[in-house]
Amino acid sequence: MSTLPARTQVGIVGGGPAGLLLSHLLHAAGIESVVLESRSRPQLAQMIRAGVLEQGTADLLTEAGVGERLRREGAVHHGIELRFAGESHRIPLSMLTGGKAITVYAQHEVVKDLVAARIACGGHLAFEATVTAIDAAPSGPVRIAYALNGSTATLDCDFIAGCDGFHGLARQTIPPSARREYLHEYPFGWFGILVEAPPSSTELIYAHHPRGFALVSTRSPTLQRMYFQCAIDEQPQRWQPAAIWAELTRRLETRAGWRPVEGPIVQRDVVGLRSFVCEPMQYGRLFLAGDAAHIVPPTGAKGLNLAAADVRTLAQAMIAHYCEGRVDLLDGYSAQCLKRVWRAQRFSAWMTGMLHTDPQATEFDSRLQLAELEHLTASQVAATSLAENYVDLTRH
Ligand code: DHB
Repeated sequence: MSTLPARTQVGIVGGGPAGLLLSHLLHAAGIESVVLESRSRPQLAQMIRAGVLEQGTADLLTEAGVGERLRREGAVHHGIELRFAGESHRIPLSMLTGGKAITVYAQHEVVKDLVAARIACGGHLAFEATVTAIDAAPSGPVRIAYALNGSTATLDCDFIAGCDGFHGLARQTIPPSARREYLHEYPFGWFGILVEAPPSSTELIYAHHPRGFALVSTRSPTLQRMYFQCAIDEQPQRWQPAAIWAELTRRLETRAGWRPVEGPIVQRDVVGLRSFVCEPMQYGRLFLAGDAAHIVPPTGAKGLNLAAADVRTLAQAMIAHYCEGRVDLLDGYSAQCLKRVWRAQRFSAWMTGMLHTDPQATEFDSRLQLAELEHLTASQVAATSLAENYVDLTRH
C-alpha cells in the first residue's frame, strides 16, 4: 500500500460498502479520496451480511464498473414465496413491476469487488487504520486524526464522509444538541446459518409461523443461507444441528410436505433487530452514510441498498460541487436521503411486523397478521405494493 497523503478532497471514515462505493464513484469523476478502515482486509471480506440487491443497486454497481462478477455469479430472482398456514404463495415480483428483479449476491462479495477495484485504480485505502478524532464543525479545519502501523497522522479534507457503521465515531462527533435519534428495538433476533447444500428453493421463502419467522435464502449453488426468529439472547452454539433443522422444518413445512435440503452447517450467528435513524445526516462538512446514520431490521434486506443509495446521492452532490460550483445538492443531501430512509423504515418495519411472532402479541394481533398476509396474496394491488418496495425502493 502506498503511503497516505496528508490532504485529500474527501476523507472517508470506514471502508465497508458505503465508503468504498463512494470512493469509487468520486474517483470516476476525478475527485480524490482516502478511505480509512479499522478492520483488516481478510476481516472485511468475511463480514457475513444480507445478500439481496435491488434492481437499482445492481444497476449502480454495474454503472460504476464493479458489476462484472455480480452479473456472472449473482442469481437473478423474479419472485419470492410467502408461506403461512401451511401454504405457499408466490409474489411474481417482475410481473408486478414491469420486469424488475432482485439479484442475490452477498454483501461481502460486493465489498471484495469494490476493494479490488479501488486497489486496481491506485486508490488510497488503508486497512487497520484507527480513526481517533474527526473535526468537521461548521467553522474551523476539516480533519481526521488516525493511527496506522504504530504511528499517528492527520488527514486534512474538504469534506468527511462518515461511513463507519452504527458503532462508529462519525455520528458520535456530532454534538447531541445538533442531532435527533430515533430507535426501536424488537423483542426477538435472527438465528442465521450457512449450509453446504444445494438450494432448497429456486426463490427466497419468507415464512410466518406461530413459532416464529423463517427465511430461506441462497449464496451459491452449493452454499445456502437460512434464518429463523429466536430470542435476542440466544446462544447459537447451544443448538445441535438436528434441533436447528427441526425448527426450520416446522416453520417452513407445507401441507404438501415441503422440507429444506439439509447439509453441514458451516457458520451460525445471532443478530438483534433494530430500527434507527439519526437526523440530520449532516453536520458542517461531515456527511453520514449507511449504517452510521440508520439501521433497518433485516426483513426485506434494505440495509446495503440504502447505504448504496446514500452514497449515490452524496457522490452526485460532491460532483456538482467540484465540477459546477453548486452547493445546493450538498445542502439538500440529508433531506433527500431521509425521505428514502423513512420509506425504507416503513417497509422494513411492516415486513418485520407482518412476518414475526411477537412474544407479547394477543390472539387478536395474530389473527390480524394472518389477515394481512391473506390480503397480500388475494389482492394484486397489495402484492404490487410489496413488489415495488421489495425490488426498487431506494432508486430515488
Ligand atoms: C437475506 C437477508 C435478508 O434480510 C432478506 O430479507 C433476504 C435474504 C440473505 O441474507 O440472503
